[in-house]
Amino acid sequence: MTAQRTPLILDVDTGIDDALALLYACASPDAELVAVTALAGNATADNTERNTRAVLEAAGRGDIDVAVGRPMPLLRALEITPETHGPRGLGYSDPPEPRRPRSGAYAPQVIVDAARARPGEITLVTLGPLTNLAVAILMEPALPRLLRRWIAMGGAFRVPGNTTPVAEWNIHCDPEAARIALRVWTTAIEADPGVPRALLMGLDVTERAQLMPAHLDALAARAGDAANGPLMTLTRDALRFYFEFHAKYDGFYGAHVHDPLVVAAALDPSLVRAEPAAVDVDASGGPGDGQTIADWRHVGGAIANADVAVEVDAAAFIERLIERVGALAVARALA
Ligand code: BDR
Ligand code: CA
Repeated sequence: MTAQRTPLILDVDTGIDDALALLYACASPDAELVAVTALAGNATADNTERNTRAVLEAAGRGDIDVAVGRPMPLLRALEITPETHGPRGLGYSDPPEPRRPRSGAYAPQVIVDAARARPGEITLVTLGPLTNLAVAILMEPALPRLLRRWIAMGGAFRVPGNTTPVAEWNIHCDPEAARIALRVWTTAIEADPGVPRALLMGLDVTERAQLMPAHLDALAARAGDAANGPLMTLTRDALRFYFEFHAKYDGFYGAHVHDPLVVAAALDPSLVRAEPAAVDVDASGGPGDGQTIADWRHVGGAIANADVAVEVDAAAFIERLIERVGALAVARALA
């Protein structure tokens, strides 16, 4: 019996943990990758797009087109983070130029077209700033109704930010885009309570997903003879950089693997527990800029536009990542 597959669009700013998220998706028999779109964030759009093609190729999915969107946020100046993800976004890994040429498609259009073609079926997983999604919503305001669900890595709700004292990186980069997306979700739910709330997975849960050197050893063991193949070499070289970054800024030699956790939860929502809340984003430009504000006590009277993840089974996720990505490395070596 084949597993029921969840149709996914992944919107990424690849990035080390985005790369792991792509590998996780490619390794998951319960995922159907409908489209992958890229945007600026961890690195320039040029680099995230190239990285995405390179990772997909290492995963044996060089057949997937990678459309790119705006090369910068809606209103803000472009910010990238080479100290977190390395000079081009994949840490110490520098994979060969992918064979697949750059796509001519426009990422927001790809998202809109896919949602229109399969109304109510597709889960959109955003793993970077929300620029592509905001543009897509402006093109097609019915997007919240056309998607099965929108799941985002973004925000810091009851925990400090990782970019400013209150802001998480993906929201920080383009707070206006985040605000547009969340407000359009509110309007859509007000008009039709059947529209599914967004699922927001912030640092509250994603920082609990810690990948440690022992896990990387377990992944290499699972990969067996494929442990030194291209997929594992990319993974190891990228993660070594991420481990060093976390050692410098977060006090442990290991990594928060935000983005693959979000893909895992898109495929198996039982990995997280979430609470509904009305969520808005501060885009004031002041000290609260980029903060995600959840109205936990419902004092503002706004309708809940999101489910905010508050608990996660991180151990089950890490185990699954090792099993799935390790098995993919083996399959690639045999291909
Ligand atoms: C998020 O920001 C990026 O650095 C990661 O790829 C992740 O999506 C975590 O704040
Ligand atoms: Ca990301």
